[in-house]
Amino acid sequence: MSDVLSEIAEDISITRADLRAGGVMLTPPICTMGEDAHLTQYDVLATLGNGRHLMMGNDPRLPKMPARPRLADFFRHRFVPMVANHLLQSASLAKNTGLDDRVVMACLLHDIAMAGLITSDHGYWGAQLVEPYVDEEVSWAVRHHQALRYFPDESVRYSYPEAYIRYFGEDYQPPDYLRQAYEQARRHKWYMTARLITVNDVYAFDPHIVVDVDDFEDVIGRHFRQPKEGLGFDNSPVAHMWRTMIWPRNSL
Ligand SMILES: [Fe+2]
Ligand SMILES: [Fe+2]
Repeated sequence: MSDVLSEIAEDISITRADLRAGGVMLTPPICTMGEDAHLTQYDVLATLGNGRHLMMGNDPRLPKMPARPRLADFFRHRFVPMVANHLLQSASLAKNTGLDDRVVMACLLHDIAMAGLITSDHGYWGAQLVEPYVDEEVSWAVRHHQALRYFPDESVRYSYPEAYIRYFGEDYQPPDYLRQAYEQARRHKWYMTARLITVNDVYAFDPHIVVDVDDFEDVIGRHFRQPKEGLGFDNSPVAHMWRTMIWPRNSL
């Protein structure tokens, strides 16, 4: 039977359907754009039935999340370990420099979208994700680090990151919408909060330094309003974004 299904899958170019995990998985369309699978991946729907279904609910490959997940649970069980560590190292640097709690919190969250959701425009996605739970200043800073990291500020000895020359090439220019966001942010009362994210953004990431999210339990306790129902289940305007990280491959 499985041979027959594999043949069907091959026939209609279902390259992305995962037949191993006991359920068929669709790949989020944002991840197939530009690839052949984008044109064909929903063809798999025609092969369903008779015990073969789309995967829904807990992905067996992922650790099960608690019923009322807290921020630390996402750090431990969902975030890309390297990015989680990057966030923790950045926040550590800010904390050890004696910066304000709000800056430490902003550093701890600044790349949260890259850690668990999406890379493109990660500052904007990340800000939206945390907006109901942090001070407006913190989410503002997370949003604007997206633009600020491309622009130097001599007053705090921030230069264009050397790493970006390797990442994007020497000729890369940030798009106009980020240039405009930077110009506006410069005149804003919270400019320095966002700027300090870029100053503490650890580009020379050290995989050997491991910081535990529990080291920030007190800062999180003071500056991140954890909903009693758990992140994803509090009916906030962004609850669905947290649920998407709990069940990232739910089919529909
Ligand atoms: Fe970032
Ligand atoms: Fe970063």
